[in-house]
Amino acid sequence: MNAVSSPRNHAAMMDAMYATQRHIYDLTRKYYLFGRDRMIRELALPDGGTVLELGCGTGRNLAMVRKHWPKAQLFGLDISAEMLKSARTTLGEQAALAQADATEFDPERLFGVAQFDRVILSYATSMIPVWREALAQGSALVAPGGSLHVVDFGDMAGLPGPARSALRAWLARFHVSPRHTLPQSAIAGGAVYGLTGSAATGMGGYYQLVTLRRDS
Ligand SMILES: C[S@@+](CC[C@H](N)C(=O)[O-])C[C@H]1O[C@@H](n2cnc3c(N)ncnc32)[C@H](O)[C@@H]1O
Repeated sequence: MNAVSSPRNHAAMMDAMYATQRHIYDLTRKYYLFGRDRMIRELALPDGGTVLELGCGTGRNLAMVRKHWPKAQLFGLDISAEMLKSARTTLGEQAALAQADATEFDPERLFGVAQFDRVILSYATSMIPVWREALAQGSALVAPGGSLHVVDFGDMAGLPGPARSALRAWLARFHVSPRHTLPQSAIAGGAVYGLTGSAATGMGGYYQLVTLRRDS
């Protein structure tokens, strides 16, 4: 691994960006991180079920999960200590939160839990350099009868060419790289852990959703 992509440098890069951005994050991102609420609605969580978000950011998604399923047990991790400050403010005692790298962590050590009913990644794979490893970690942690849900930028094929190029260039300034092979990689990677997958797109390819399920 080179110096630029080492976990420590990546954490520092995320902190540098989010130290100020986190204060306007939820307000601004609702205008371009689409598909998150659809993913959350599709979780169909059992009563008292556990949900782990990898790259939980400000805690916005976990708060939304709690609105839909008040008895959900919430867990979140993020590599950015800055983002976790916002998540703690948003979620208080409602969630167990930890600073960790989504590509390499021990859930038992962090949370005292080995597997989760739902594992979610929302606009995180496009920011994690070794994103397939985060998907592998998430897949391994899905409990029997559980599922992993991913939402992130798609190929944006529905946008006119110049708008698509401008959006991609703007996203790159925030260290965001849409993963064009996300569905194939997630489904093939999930199969290694005994999960079966499906994929969908929304808003003309603006976002993509992947769901991987483990039989009971
Ligand atoms: C675009 S934000 C998405 C936040 C939240 N999931 C949402 O949908 O609003 C991406 C988040 O992933 C986190 N992140 C980036 N790389 C990570 C890694 N390797 N491990 C854990 N979190 C990471 C960032 O710190 C940031 O909070």
